[in-house]
Amino acid sequence: MENKKIVVGNLKSTMNIEDVSKYLQVINKEIASKEVIICPSSIYIPYFLKKNYQVGLQNIFLDEGGPYTGEITPTQAVSLEIRYAIVGHSERRIHLNETDEIINKKIVAAINKNMYVILCIGETLEEKEMLRTDMVIRRQLVNALNGLSIDMLYNVIIAYEPVWAIGTNNIPSIKEIEKTVEYIKNVVKQISGYEDIKVLYGGSVNEHNVKELNKINNISGFLVGGASTKADSFLKIIDEVIQK
Ligand code: 13P
Repeated sequence: MENKKIVVGNLKSTMNIEDVSKYLQVINKEIASKEVIICPSSIYIPYFLKKNYQVGLQNIFLDEGGPYTGEITPTQAVSLEIRYAIVGHSERRIHLNETDEIINKKIVAAINKNMYVILCIGETLEEKEMLRTDMVIRRQLVNALNGLSIDMLYNVIIAYEPVWAIGTNNIPSIKEIEKTVEYIKNVVKQISGYEDIKVLYGGSVNEHNVKELNKINNISGFLVGGASTKADSFLKIIDEVIQK
């Protein structure tokens, strides 16, 4: 993976087919960058394939392949040349009880198929207020990356997404993000010796705040939720981070 900044759009599960059609009319014309990774709802993935951006999954199964009703396996993903998967999103941790151990298995299964994973970590508001951010992040990293070699870590991108910043328009200060990103890099280095881990920021990133956020000196890009579902906003974000 080159050392360029990336922008990941997590379209989550809000768009219906009419929304997707309108969205594609704009983005297929305007986005020509392999540093943009769009993660649609899996039922719409075929509409997004073979364009001038990359496609990623919002989730992946914890075994490489086999009969797992309702799941998408790494074997299936790579058969469509899908190389990216988000793992450990807080919405899955909260609503589906996804544990660090499950997330670790997903990471291993995906990397064994030579995929890249975007591992989401971050503290809840309660954890932040109790000054437990560093502790939570360390636990999430240690468990999720358990047993990974340096070669495998090359395929991991971390997304720091404070749970309280998702969909709320509340974001940490630039200084706080910078400090946490540095902390994440240090923890990964401590536990594995790997020094070049990419860290993205996610949580209420939009076309208005991205310019400021993009000044954070140790940031490798952004994971965008709501604003990535609005083609115009997403294009402005991409333009600020990548196409300059
Ligand atoms: P929002 O950009 O809507 O806050 O969502 C962030 C997110 O959860 C991306 O994975």
